[in-house]
Amino acid sequence: MYRSRPKGNLNKEMLNFLSSMNDDLQILHYDILGSEAHVIMLHEIGILTLHETKKILVALEQIRHKPALLTTGDVEDIHESIESLIIQQTGVDIGGKIQIGRSRNDQVILDIRMKVRDDINEICEKIITLITSLLKKADENIDTIMPMYTHLRQAQIGTFSHFTLSYADSLFRDLDRLYITYVRINQSPLGAGAIGGSRIKLDRQKTARLLGFKGIVRNSIDATSSRDTIIEYTMDLTIIMLTLSRMTEDFIIWSTDEFGYLDISDEYSSSSSAMPHKKNPDPLELLRAKAGTVSGNLFTMITIIKAIPSGYSRDLQEIKTSLWQASATTTQALKIMNYVVKSLIINKERMEQASSNSYAISFDLAELLAIKNGMSFRTAHKVMGLLVQKAISNNRQPLRRLREEDIREVLESLGSKLSAEEVLKDIKETAPQKSISSRQSLGSPNPMQEQNMVKLSRGRLSAYSKRIAKRKRLVDEALKNLTRMVSNCSKKA
Ligand code: ARG
Repeated sequence: MYRSRPKGNLNKEMLNFLSSMNDDLQILHYDILGSEAHVIMLHEIGILTLHETKKILVALEQIRHKPALLTTGDVEDIHESIESLIIQQTGVDIGGKIQIGRSRNDQVILDIRMKVRDDINEICEKIITLITSLLKKADENIDTIMPMYTHLRQAQIGTFSHFTLSYADSLFRDLDRLYITYVRINQSPLGAGAIGGSRIKLDRQKTARLLGFKGIVRNSIDATSSRDTIIEYTMDLTIIMLTLSRMTEDFIIWSTDEFGYLDISDEYSSSSSAMPHKKNPDPLELLRAKAGTVSGNLFTMITIIKAIPSGYSRDLQEIKTSLWQASATTTQALKIMNYVVKSLIINKERMEQASSNSYAISFDLAELLAIKNGMSFRTAHKVMGLLVQKAISNNRQPLRRLREEDIREVLESLGSKLSAEEVLKDIKETAPQKSISSRQSLGSPNPMQEQNMVKLSRGRLSAYSKRIAKRKRLVDEALKNLTRMVSNCSKKA
């Protein structure tokens, strides 16, 4: 349809190569809305007569209800497909006017922004749901003591709630990132035309308002060429997936027979075709892998966009596949992770047992020695290190089983005057429970702080929920108003 200068038709295979029709089905809905706003605006500024406007709007409505009418085979994209159907239904003298003051270049980025805007709201809601589940787990597990790990070796004593709260905090930042990106996405490029605007005095603010945008992307080159906000969005998604991949890895490790800290519900576990005893965490493994898929999508897009000159180039079409995949994968991953979190079975005894046999307590004791006795931390570190060495050589006994003379020997070897009896008393008194309840610094797993964190986080969550609901409402109201205008226009005599 667009071939005014080139002779004849596009070679079939070439057309197939050029076509973005497969990806475009996801923006059909937005393309129709954008066209409605454009046509109404053209009418209001006196470019289209009421009769022409009505004809086009009716044809658009028909496509909305019967997308099967669209040809998919011999067109380059959804924009061409819609325009040619409108021309077919209203004649070229009317339908051929729909593209006045508009190009596929501003059209496609309009559609992308509208879809991403909806996707952001949906993904924000999914994050909120997941954080809600994590906070519930945190609340239930404030007293669930477990070792914390660095280098995947027992480091300090903590609680399961401290982990779930840490995931929640990461997800809060993920949420906030999307929340801010939305502001940059929610601007209309429509009316920028092919690259340099139009001689018609298009009312760009009007179409922006009709489509629920907060303002326009002003510069026409910028509006049609740049994809930075889209990259930013995909980066946000990649970071979400990285957060989820850390969670999956923790859950996979903690659910092994060796750890046994938690169990993943049977509903979310696979089995083996060969080994009858197996219960595999396949959903978590796939979630972990999908973090790779989404970061791959991001890099695909960055690599495509890199060094494209200003102004639309067809390269830009190629990002849609990755963009849609990144959105869909992240949405699904958040949903699946929520199921997993809600159904986690926590083995409190196993965690507690691991904690009470852990040498992780020696850090608390080194701090205690230093604070109580004015010992340098370096010396306290040595004392505890040597005591752990002794305990390990005694058949890996826990520190509380050390004998007084073992302690005396260590203290004397370091020239310390501390009483071995006193140190043994401290060791015996520093049970894992005490270890966390005496953790004072802000952000540590002290149960009182944890309770506070749960409360604070719930407050933050409800504030985000309200703000996102409001954003959705604003878009909804604008689009409802557009629908009303369309139907009023179609009814006018
Ligand atoms: N199918 C194209 C895309 O997805 C639409 C814009 C085409 N514009 C052009 N000048 N060829 O990006």
